[in-house]
Amino acid sequence: MNRYAHITGWGIGVPEKILTNDDLAQMVDTSDEWIVSRTGIRQRHIAEEGETTASLGTEAALQAMEVAGVNPNEIDLIIVSTSSPEHVFPSTASLIQDRIGASKAGAFDLSAACTGFIFAMNMAAQAITSGSINTAIVLGAETLSRFVNWEDRETCILFGDGAGAFVLQTSADPGGVLSSVMRSDGSGGDLLSVPAGGSKRPASSQTVQDGLHFIQMNGREVFRFATRVMKQATEEAIEQAGMILDDVNWVIPHQANRRIIETAARRLKMPMEKVVVNLDRYGNTSTASIPLATVEAIRDGRVKPGDLIVFVGFGAGLTWGALAARWTGPIPDEKPKVWPYRFYTLYQAYVRVRSLILRFVRFVEGVIWGKRG
Ligand code: UT7
Repeated sequence: MNRYAHITGWGIGVPEKILTNDDLAQMVDTSDEWIVSRTGIRQRHIAEEGETTASLGTEAALQAMEVAGVNPNEIDLIIVSTSSPEHVFPSTASLIQDRIGASKAGAFDLSAACTGFIFAMNMAAQAITSGSINTAIVLGAETLSRFVNWEDRETCILFGDGAGAFVLQTSADPGGVLSSVMRSDGSGGDLLSVPAGGSKRPASSQTVQDGLHFIQMNGREVFRFATRVMKQATEEAIEQAGMILDDVNWVIPHQANRRIIETAARRLKMPMEKVVVNLDRYGNTSTASIPLATVEAIRDGRVKPGDLIVFVGFGAGLTWGALAARWTGPIPDEKPKVWPYRFYTLYQAYVRVRSLILRFVRFVEGVIWGKRG
């Protein structure tokens, strides 16, 4: 039997707090007019205390499971693409695995900056088509506001927080993920980075004093790189899928800058009516931007089952990539389901108790084995 990886569920998690351009103009030397004309961004959502990459991701994952109609114990794999993980380790994916009660899933983080969601979807799709797994959740989740220098007007105007999730499921029906392109060029690593906090420059009072835990970016260089690779990657993904540009219903690009998207669309000769853009309301949410834009386009009725979509992204690394998919929607299934999202409060209580029981069992085992040792 042929196996295809279909996108059958979707969800988002977005902080309530909104930071407008006018708010920013009170913090740094900038203006709404400059930000809108240079980037297209009008506002962004910012995580408040208590909101984290895992909490936004959990919300998105539960919505996606609800749409797909999958139970937590059906999930085999959770991949979280993020550049703002909660910790160096454990992975944010593991924290989300625990919070959604996916007791049979393997979970790991993937680091490919803003391109990460495309890489993660490709990894999950490959695992499904190879027969290794049946169901995966792929997330793009960020709280990059915690790595932004709020005194640097060149970067603080760009970024926002949020998370998006897709459920990928196996099916014998042709469709789903059709092709993918993944590329990297580490020679451009210094163009967009958070220099300290890793093993090369561990956190110290000096690194904090020097502002090395903040995002540093050469905006102009990243702009030039982005417009070049988006066209290339999109064309490659379409060709690999055996399609032509005219077959494409939607291009859903990484939402970094409206001018980048328009330049790439112009070079592709793709009308902007076929390009999904929502960065005016979210800013650049890095790897979460593609699923956030997709879910909005599904919810407002633009993206429909059967549509051919090309997702295209670029970012730090440098990394870039594209992925073509035939949009599916939920797979009809006769099995009765227990959808956690419907019983959200009850389900959250259940997963917390489950997590506490697991911790307690480990504690008791530790006491027993500790005494024996
Ligand atoms: O996910 C990937 C993440 N990164 C990106 O996608 C970034 C890609 N690059 C960009 O989006 C653009 O390069 C920026 C939006 C970052 C900057 O736009 P730009 O048109 O490339 O501006 P620029 O860097 O060439 O700066 C033009 C002027 C400079 O002043 P001078 O030197 O000409 O006097 C900047 O100092 O604008 C000034 N400027 C600002 N002015 C008001 C830079 N930031 C601001 C600001 N408000 N926020």
